[in-house]
Amino acid sequence: MTDSTATASTQNAGATSGETLTVRDNRTGQEYDVPILDGAVKAADLGKIRTAEDAPGLAVYDPGFVNTASCRSSVTFIDGDKGILEYRGYPIEQLAEKSSYLEVAYLLIHGELPTKDQYDTWAHEITYHTFVHENVRNFMEGFRYDAHPMGMLLASVGALSTFYPESRNISDADNRHMQIVRLIAKMPTLGAWAFRHAQGKPYVYPDNDLGYAANFLAMLFKMSEPKFSADERLVRALEVLFILHADHEQNASTNAVRSVGSTQVDPYSAVTAGIGALYGPLHGGANEAVLRMLRRIGSVEKVPEFIEGVKNGKERLMGFGHRVYKNHDPRATIIKKACDDVFEVTGVNPLLKIAVELEKIALEDEYFVKRRLYPNVDFYSGLIYEALQFPPEMFTVLFAIPRTSGWLAQWLELVQDPEQKIARPKQIYTGHRTRDFVPAAERWR
Ligand SMILES: CC(C)(COP(=O)(O)OP(=O)(O)OC[C@H]1O[C@@H](n2cnc3c(N)ncnc32)[C@H](O)[C@@H]1OP(=O)(O)O)[C@@H](O)C(=O)NCCC(=O)NCCS
Repeated sequence: MTDSTATASTQNAGATSGETLTVRDNRTGQEYDVPILDGAVKAADLGKIRTAEDAPGLAVYDPGFVNTASCRSSVTFIDGDKGILEYRGYPIEQLAEKSSYLEVAYLLIHGELPTKDQYDTWAHEITYHTFVHENVRNFMEGFRYDAHPMGMLLASVGALSTFYPESRNISDADNRHMQIVRLIAKMPTLGAWAFRHAQGKPYVYPDNDLGYAANFLAMLFKMSEPKFSADERLVRALEVLFILHADHEQNASTNAVRSVGSTQVDPYSAVTAGIGALYGPLHGGANEAVLRMLRRIGSVEKVPEFIEGVKNGKERLMGFGHRVYKNHDPRATIIKKACDDVFEVTGVNPLLKIAVELEKIALEDEYFVKRRLYPNVDFYSGLIYEALQFPPEMFTVLFAIPRTSGWLAQWLELVQDPEQKIARPKQIYTGHRTRDFVPAAERWR
């Protein structure tokens, strides 16, 4: 018997008409035709496969969402095999070379590149919302002297929701826009203040004459000079790093933003969830691990010995390999060029020589070639951040600031998508059932 579920799915836009998967349930002998839409089957369609009317439907078990699509998205496209990354259809290489971070943020949020007027309005809005309420400053000053800057950022972005209670009205488009502007504008201020706090230096207020990255550098490094002006090459390198980190489709932190956002909470709280996910070493911490590895290797002469250790399974070559990119990470190529620009100003980081030698050997070695292991974005970003005088604890903050535009583009898509529901996965229950409770007085006798 064939149970056709096609009608349940025909309303999906972009559906590949007529493609189906025939599933035979060997428990019952029944066959089902499950529609395939855009290369995917709906988990809810599989849920119709059951052994009896009142039995639970077939579920999909997928810890880590390794092969589960949680949404339809038109923000970012990745082809890991071909090494392609595109924001709204524009290749990352072109954006990194020709665009600015604010223009890319506009593109991610609005879906199209801005006209001159649209860009001017956007840049003006972002620039004039960089200040935060003085109480946020007082609040940040209350952290311990050695507080991790990412923990400070996480807490202060969460606290912003209390300053803008109207942000809970997520069904109003103007209101959403206002909060998006505020978040993109205030992240560098909060990130810079978290950095200054750890150094015991006074917080620096935003300078509205400066662009996004230049203003961030001023808030980080300004001391007694009346006007801080960073080297243009450093400003551009930071812009490029910001562009490269702006979005990366459904990664762990974006999934956290979407998951929390699906409860219809305000965007500050949703973005705070993303910052929490990015704080984890498996997500935002790999570039710090690269630096530790390079320091441990210590010199170019020791590289072959280290590579042998990797091949024997004693070591892992940090900054190599990627879950999605199996050919090359397009961001790594761009970042390598940014490295050269930064070192022209700051002087060459001595660890660079070790990194270059590692890359050279690894790219020729059969072990890495066979496993399709290539440098990823983190292989070089730590070196740049260090050259810019950032301590390793700041690396994830430097990731969170530009990723905010991506998180918000995805959040915006989520809250306007009629197919989305509150994120609530199923479980496969493995515990006891229906036991009689014995009161403590009897159990402990
Ligand atoms: C990113 C990463 C977690 C992806 O992992 P993955 O897609 O699950 O790949 P696997 O761990 O299954 O690796 C496949 C094979 O390559 C090897 N491998 C993967 N990354 C490796 C690395 N960085 N160094 C040495 N060997 C590596 C694995 O040991 C495995 O070998 P095997 O087939 O002999 O068992 C992994 O490549 C890694 O740990 N890289 C270093 C950390 C890093 O740079 N992370 C930042 C990512 S942006």
